[in-house]
Amino acid sequence: MTALDTRTVVAVIGAGAMGAGIAQVAAQAGHPVRLYDTREGAAAQAIAGIDRQLGRLVEKDKLDGEARRATVARLQPAASLQDLAEAGLVIEAIVENLEVKRGLFAQLEAVCSAECILASNTSSLSITGIAAGLTHPQRVIGLHFFNPAPLMALVEIVSGLASDPALAQRLYATAQAWGKKPVHTRSTPGFIVNRVARPFYAESLRLLQEGAADCATLDALLRDAGGFRMGAFELTDLIGHDVNYAVTCSVFDAYYGDMRFQPSLIQKELVDAGRLGRKSGQGFYAYHEGAERPQPVETHSTACVDSCVVEGDLGIAGPLVERLQQAGITITRRDGHGLLRVGDATLALSDGRLASQRARQDGLHNLVLIDLALDYQRAERLAISCAAGISPQARQQAIALLQRAGLKVSLLSDTPALVVLRTVAMLANEGCDALLHGVASAADIDLALCAGVNYPRGPLAWADAIGLEPVLKTLENLQAAYGEARYRPSLLLRRCAEQGSTLHDH
Ligand code: NAI
Repeated sequence: MTALDTRTVVAVIGAGAMGAGIAQVAAQAGHPVRLYDTREGAAAQAIAGIDRQLGRLVEKDKLDGEARRATVARLQPAASLQDLAEAGLVIEAIVENLEVKRGLFAQLEAVCSAECILASNTSSLSITGIAAGLTHPQRVIGLHFFNPAPLMALVEIVSGLASDPALAQRLYATAQAWGKKPVHTRSTPGFIVNRVARPFYAESLRLLQEGAADCATLDALLRDAGGFRMGAFELTDLIGHDVNYAVTCSVFDAYYGDMRFQPSLIQKELVDAGRLGRKSGQGFYAYHEGAERPQPVETHSTACVDSCVVEGDLGIAGPLVERLQQAGITITRRDGHGLLRVGDATLALSDGRLASQRARQDGLHNLVLIDLALDYQRAERLAISCAAGISPQARQQAIALLQRAGLKVSLLSDTPALVVLRTVAMLANEGCDALLHGVASAADIDLALCAGVNYPRGPLAWADAIGLEPVLKTLENLQAAYGEARYRPSLLLRRCAEQGSTLHDH
């Protein structure tokens, strides 16, 4: 399927944050663009804003002056909907209200040709619902850009019940031609990103509520061990708690109160207090002039260790052994069940059980659990938790071993699945259900999370790398620990684990 010809007129309706960005993207790709807004002067203002943006790029030598001039020349404000009659593609980016959007699309059917594709940038409304009642509902497709549209690569191409697959393909090819990374998704609440990413925020909020660690430590672990660009607290401070909380509530309601999406009382309280994050000067962190950023907790040890014993295969944590070896630790290998012994301590990768529970059930003395890392060779920090009754000496030895590998160690209270493992397992679980329910392909789910929210690895590929059996076990153990349906494993995860296949084979 080919992209729309660049001679195709693109009409953008709504000249706010998203409409202006989308108009810029279409104009930079070479299309004549008509920008319409019911607010007097808004379209012209948005075009002047785009001109200024492009001017900044010219100053930084990222764009030449001629390209700026040509792009701006392609942008025209439209005085009325009638002025959009020649459009081959309309992208609606007006207020997020189903009735208002429906009314607009009905008017557009009267103005535009029968071939014109009608796209909506809605982030939470049903494309099926927007198209219902139209004469040609098959030409309504979601085209969900991310903010800021000129910078964010991801575009979700959303198909409703009546959407014509050929038109969805055409928009996919068009988004690619515009330099974007498109993914196909069915019109279901949150589409891909706003659904699958929910646990990233929710698990950190839970960990904070339970006193597992403070914000700065939890953020640092997601960054320095998980490889995420930002932790959940600094990211929600940036997004704005009003916006992030509203998305969570909307997805929670849309899935009939499924506890997987349960909003957080901690976040609600911030919203109630007007502590919306950076934009209000205070969120989880303070942003006023001179405000000091709290530092993550780091536990130090002065114990001397120079050798350890590796029993069996440590699985995804295997590269930690090479790192220890490179740091001059003498390694002895033995058969066993994925344990690392140093002095009196036994270390193991978390499997979602409490350290104390696992120590008792598996008869392991002085047990220290370690968290998942994206890359154990490069991670800067690692979370650990200790079983009850661990001797101070064993704890010191375990910490000293990890320090020898150059890791900063954050000691958490005894918490099931720690921080990164719990977050990744829940992201993968949500991705599995989206895959099981035919919302999108495995490749598109992973691409959406990498391109839309900058994850270092797609959650499904990550689960494949960890191994589906350990991810399933982690979720089962979390479910047992909390007794909550929130952590129930996806049927698809269980099926693929049973069959020994990968999620990407599905
Ligand atoms: P905004 O409030 O910045 O802009 C909306 C614009 O639409 C305003 O200029 C308003 O005057 C205009 N407008 C309202 N009703 C209109 C009508 N009937 N006809 C013509 N113009 C009308 O809103 P924003 O943030 O740009 O959002 C627009 C859409 O994009 C919404 O559907 C939103 O859910 C979606 N979206 C927003 C994202 C964001 O981060 N802000 C991200 C992705 C999607």
